[in-house]
Amino acid sequence: MKKYKVIVVGATGAVGREMIRTLENRNFPIQVLKLLASSRSAGSKIKFKNNELTVEELNKNFFKGFDIAIFSAGGDTSKKFAPYAAEAGCYCIDNSSAWRMEKDIPLVVPEVNPEVLQKGRYIIANPNCSTIQMVVALKPIHDLAKIKRVVVSTYQAVSGAGQKGILDLKEQLTAIENGETVHVNNFQYQIANNLIPHIDVFMDDGYTKEEVKMIKETNKILNDFDLKITATTVRVPVYRGHAESINIETKDPLSAKEAKSVLSKAAGVIVQDDLSKNEYPMPISSEGKYETFVGRIREDKTVKNGLNIWVVSDNLLKGAASNAVQIAETLVFKGIV
Ligand SMILES: NC(=O)c1ccc[n+]([C@@H]2O[C@H](COP(=O)([O-])OP(=O)(O)OC[C@H]3O[C@@H](n4cnc5c(N)ncnc54)[C@H](OP(=O)(O)O)[C@@H]3O)[C@@H](O)[C@H]2O)c1
Repeated sequence: MKKYKVIVVGATGAVGREMIRTLENRNFPIQVLKLLASSRSAGSKIKFKNNELTVEELNKNFFKGFDIAIFSAGGDTSKKFAPYAAEAGCYCIDNSSAWRMEKDIPLVVPEVNPEVLQKGRYIIANPNCSTIQMVVALKPIHDLAKIKRVVVSTYQAVSGAGQKGILDLKEQLTAIENGETVHVNNFQYQIANNLIPHIDVFMDDGYTKEEVKMIKETNKILNDFDLKITATTVRVPVYRGHAESINIETKDPLSAKEAKSVLSKAAGVIVQDDLSKNEYPMPISSEGKYETFVGRIREDKTVKNGLNIWVVSDNLLKGAASNAVQIAETLVFKGIV
């Protein structure tokens, strides 16, 4: 079997570390793995399989001779360095929002739109974490009954803001426990024992950029620009795992039973919906898993063809690392790399 030369940019971050674990756990065929980050963590060691790899400082000359570079180092780094990877003939899978809405850049969730991956399209965008889990759940319903409108509210874990988000919650919980002053570093307000309806910056129309990303990216991935979506995104004091309450209106009638049946057969979806056992998805049960979990599937009787679903996934895995590794696997499967 052919093996590949792979680079992880942002290897020391919350997503980068999961990326390395996911490459190992999914047994991606690797010949050489290079780990890159900023000068801050150059020289640090990260374990991959039975080896300790040394993190090096990113520079534009690393990409020649490599097959795939997975970037999780923020938008500015991707904007600057992804073109060097592409120029060197190295496929770049980017986790930031830098390239997602560019017309010729594929924005990919492998269960939903693998067909947009093509030879020679060297920069590939990984969607926003909240978008990924939503489209995995919407796609089978859209195919069956044509979705007209979606209203989504999110409950997003602090790890969505990276290592510093995790640290903030940890430090604040400890401070509260010890009766000390709570410091606010990363979020707009204290996140411990709180909810913050504000992720990313506010736009002129009152929506946040995170909400706009969910809307525009979903239209692009489903290749349906008539589908109307509105979103409210909320940060919650959970370390890991995003949850979403999604209200759906379809053109054709779809019962809760039919929705449950089509979701149970959908790629990458696990239905957890047995009310007699209090079974429904939650962040603690999605942690460390690659799938998207769907439950609380029920009809919304206030509209003609309405449905409510509850969707949970590990934001660091399906929302980032495992979706990116699945894209790499699809590049291999299609003979693109
Ligand atoms: N967290 C999520 O759930 C999630 C989901 C989807 C997408 N993303 C995206 O993934 C990216 C990384 O997020 P994260 O949560 O992993 O953040 P993070 O924990 O803050 O990690 C950032 C990583 O980027 C590296 N980095 C920063 N500036 C760099 C530079 N100039 N050159 C090279 N490396 C640099 C850091 O290296 P040092 O150790 O050297 O600082 C670190 O490895 C972001 O674009 C984010 O939007 C995150």
